Amino acid sequence: MSRQDTERLAGIYSSHARGYADSWGPVIRPMGQRLLDALPWDGARRVVDLGTGAGTHLPEIRRRAPGACVVGVDRSPGMLELARRHGVPLLLMDGVELGFRDSSMDVAVMAFVLFHLDDPVLALREVCRVLRPGGVVGTVTWAEDPEIEASRVWEAELDSHGARDPVTPRPRRDEPLNTPEKMVGLFSATRFEPMKVWVERFEHHWELDELSRMHLTFGRSKRSWNRWTRALARSFSGASASGSKVLHLKLSSTVLPSYAAWRVGQPDP
Ligand SMILES: C[S@@+](CC[C@H](N)C(=O)[O-])C[C@H]1O[C@@H](n2cnc3c(N)ncnc32)[C@H](O)[C@@H]1O
Repeated sequence: MSRQDTERLAGIYSSHARGYADSWGPVIRPMGQRLLDALPWDGARRVVDLGTGAGTHLPEIRRRAPGACVVGVDRSPGMLELARRHGVPLLLMDGVELGFRDSSMDVAVMAFVLFHLDDPVLALREVCRVLRPGGVVGTVTWAEDPEIEASRVWEAELDSHGARDPVTPRPRRDEPLNTPEKMVGLFSATRFEPMKVWVERFEHHWELDELSRMHLTFGRSKRSWNRWTRALARSFSGASASGSKVLHLKLSSTVLPSYAAWRVGQPDP
């Protein structure tokens, strides 16, 4: 990803920071906890949460490593602004160019960030550099599109009312990382040694207002919404009021996060 792309992404996160924290925070917090459960915390003195965002996982990291210096790193000033409430040092820094000394960290957490990096191997090598020998990195990304039936209905309704988003959907960014085998392939190009790589199933029940907020804040659905004219909006609400599918949304979704915990190998003698 060019510097420009990274800045663009950081800008998008900054402008949607509150929406992200409110909509996605509750979905991914339990998944982050499962990752943290799998990491060894005994004796951890320095911990970095890379791509900390709004700091969703910082309280749980601090609970597991109460004596450690925990640092949050992110490229997005708007996300870091929200993370400030957790009272840990925060650094505006690129995850692929960390300003830490070699071997200065015990644990690195990368929750839902690896798929944003154009060259995840390069990023993992950088993490490897700042971790001490025997230090550990834990990652979680999406194993499967967290598709929500209610969202499909929502978008189909918008499409059928003439608000189709003209942008061709791009391949999912997490596709190259969405299976344990792919994660093993990725890590094998680094000095990390495997501890555990796995996929887990989670159920999330969305509240209607939570889901609606997300649709009005992010991506394709937001773009469709913005394309609406008042006339279309009237016909949409008319259709909804007369018993359309929109009133019968299934608000639960199954999501499959893909996890990896790897340890830095000892340097060659
Ligand atoms: C999906 S959010 C995840 C945030 C947090 N880890 C969580 O689980 O809630 C991805 C975060 O990665 C950050 N990010 C993306 N590319 C980055 C980079 N090159 N360096 C540092 N942070 C980056 C974004 O700004 C965003 O806050």
